[in-house]
Amino acid sequence: MNDRTQPTTTKAPQPTDVVMQMVMGAWVSQSISTLTRLDVPDRLKDHGPQSVEELTQTLSVDAKPEFLERLLRACSSIGLFNEGADGRFGITPLSEVLTSDSPVSLKKLTEVFGASWWQLWGGLEDALRTGQSQPIALFGMNYWEYCLSNPKEMADFAAAMKANSLNSMRGVLEHCDFSQIKKVVDVGGGAGHLAIALVKQYPHLQAVVLDLPELMPIAQQQIQGEDENITQRLKLVGGDMFQAVPEADVYILKHIMHDWDDAQCLQILKNCRQSMTGDGRLLCVDAVLPPMGNTQGTPAKFLDVDMIVFGGGKERTEEQWRELYATAGFELIAITPLQDNFGTSIVEGKKPEHQA
Ligand SMILES: C[S@@+](CC[C@H](N)C(=O)[O-])C[C@H]1O[C@@H](n2cnc3c(N)ncnc32)[C@H](O)[C@@H]1O
Repeated sequence: MNDRTQPTTTKAPQPTDVVMQMVMGAWVSQSISTLTRLDVPDRLKDHGPQSVEELTQTLSVDAKPEFLERLLRACSSIGLFNEGADGRFGITPLSEVLTSDSPVSLKKLTEVFGASWWQLWGGLEDALRTGQSQPIALFGMNYWEYCLSNPKEMADFAAAMKANSLNSMRGVLEHCDFSQIKKVVDVGGGAGHLAIALVKQYPHLQAVVLDLPELMPIAQQQIQGEDENITQRLKLVGGDMFQAVPEADVYILKHIMHDWDDAQCLQILKNCRQSMTGDGRLLCVDAVLPPMGNTQGTPAKFLDVDMIVFGGGKERTEEQWRELYATAGFELIAITPLQDNFGTSIVEGKKPEHQA
């Protein structure tokens, strides 16, 4: 009997299939990042399905048509584009999130994943062996210094953080009540996206964005064009969170603590503790890793590996957060998980009762 007449049964994926798919994730990641840097998803969204000749000749995508077609076919095979028999490629719900004006845009984050961060991840083995920060190994300086000496990296990084922040920012707006708060400082607040959203939501609230002085022109650009009622209540402060933070009743540190080791985190938290007025609150927004033996939390666990590559920082378990807060003079009072790209939570602290 001819086996081909038998109904086909779907074979369960073998370990080799699964591991090959995981390992090829590196090629997939770079392919997506490259097409996004070339603005291909934006062009297809704005102009509808296009051939590679139309993309390169009419819409100025900087690539050789033959190679672009091969890359687009590979990405269509994983659902990123529609591939037509007429040779035209169109956008899908997956590539829609890679466009500039998507409400949940991952464009800028995807771009940096495949650029400087891709180079740095090439040094993971070195970092594991030596503990050396890969920006120092590769660029001769830590990542913040690299951003300072390279305005394009600084602008790209700020835009990537803004894109990455969309969901965690919504989480803060949804879960934290600032109606009784007079003044909030967003420590390491980047381009000011969260502070702008907060003063828009709370008409009485004063907000300060503290970040490196070199980031201030980018933050200034963000607030340009905002209503005077918004800009009047927003202050941009170029400074160093390791030296001092402005006075406030609430401090937000979103995606800050994970960049630093415990001693550095303590210094930042002690500065907040010292400048905090009244019965204030501390809101760190970062991952809370599950305890050993719990294999959940994949994005945060890979972000933790990213911190090995960048050097110095780490993600923390609840126990580690409690210890850090207690040493800095705060009591951890709540952990609120958010639905964001890396599975982060709001880790809320306050001064212990007897010290408030
Ligand atoms: C991972 S980003 C987070 C940005 C923003 N909070 C967000 O969630 O999108 C870290 C921020 O810390 C800032 N930063 C680094 N060193 C700093 C320092 N010594 N003082 C103040 N801000 C600093 C960086 O410029 C950057 O904007």
